Amino acid sequence: MKALVITRSGGPEALEVQEVPDPQPGTGQELVKVEAGGLNFADVMTLQGGYPGTPKPPLVAGREFCGIRDRDGQRVMGYTQWAAFAERTAAHSMLLWPVPKEWNGAEGSSFPVNYFTAYFAYWKAGLLDKKREDTAPRVLIHAVAGGVGTAAVQIGKLLGVEMYGTSSSEEKLARVKDLGLQHGINYKQHDYEQAMKELTHGDGVDAVFEMLGGEHTAKSVRCLRDFGRAIVYGNATGEKSAVDPRTLYAKGASVHGLWLTYLSQNRKLMESAWNQLSIWINQGHLKPIIGHVFPFSRAPEAYELLRKGSNFGKVVLQIV
Ligand SMILES: NC(=O)c1ccc[n+]([C@@H]2O[C@H](COP(=O)([O-])OP(=O)(O)OC[C@H]3O[C@@H](n4cnc5c(N)ncnc54)[C@H](OP(=O)(O)O)[C@@H]3O)[C@@H](O)[C@H]2O)c1
Repeated sequence: MKALVITRSGGPEALEVQEVPDPQPGTGQELVKVEAGGLNFADVMTLQGGYPGTPKPPLVAGREFCGIRDRDGQRVMGYTQWAAFAERTAAHSMLLWPVPKEWNGAEGSSFPVNYFTAYFAYWKAGLLDKKREDTAPRVLIHAVAGGVGTAAVQIGKLLGVEMYGTSSSEEKLARVKDLGLQHGINYKQHDYEQAMKELTHGDGVDAVFEMLGGEHTAKSVRCLRDFGRAIVYGNATGEKSAVDPRTLYAKGASVHGLWLTYLSQNRKLMESAWNQLSIWINQGHLKPIIGHVFPFSRAPEAYELLRKGSNFGKVVLQIV
């Protein structure tokens, strides 16, 4: 079969579509004929220098996909740690979900990572079961126009959250506002910490979804109000974060880690998340936002787009 192989650590030039042997499903795994693959920032990191829990090159790339399950012909969307960008993949049954009838392959391939991650961010922020209060809880979402960001906006809207989001471009912010984002901050033009002070009259937010790392973790903590939570789930700048715990004492704030690779091994947790997500899907409230679809042969361009942060919504590889 054809597969996208990371031949060595490096840039997009290290990606090659090659003929490789068909996958052999292990215990608890099933074979899926893949239609499309959703590209994630973790794929870029895997290519550049490796990703925790993923083998060293050469390896078949890709963490999520949409396709037809061999066993029953069911159209499924799935999550795995590598080897999704291939004509066939073997994936764990508990990490395969039926694709909603009205979604195409690109949409199915873009669901698992973004929506489970965004859902768990609200869970970690303690906002899923929050009783409706007089004032809506406030959340600051970094990279709001990206894959996880647009999913977080769709879910935040359902939860009645007052959302603030950062992006590098007015055009991207305008498009996310159409999805329900109330306050967009262009961080190229404004310091977001200062903007948050002004927008919340010095009060701050209940949670920040933080995936930048470096100075942004401490800066995001400073955007919190009393008892607020920073949900840390990424490191797009590649820089190490430093948070002084004393800044947490001052307002009873906390920092929470979120890693889907780890959470996805917890069957009960994944089932409870899917129970809620599938209800929202069936009610027509959730649908992946596809920004860019590339044929398999142009995978290097797709990776480069995401690496540069030039994407809006999800970047998808069409496999067949
Ligand atoms: N922990 C987990 O389980 C988990 C799961 C999924 C994703 N993540 C993390 O969440 C983040 C978003 O992932 P995604 O796949 O949904 O990507 P994405 O948000 O679709 O794309 C990344 C976006 O981040 C923004 N950005 C800001 N600084 C950047 C930088 N230095 N380099 C590149 N982009 C930058 C860009 O938007 P603007 O131009 O608008 O700033 C870009 O479009 C990544 O850090 C990823 O590792 C973590």
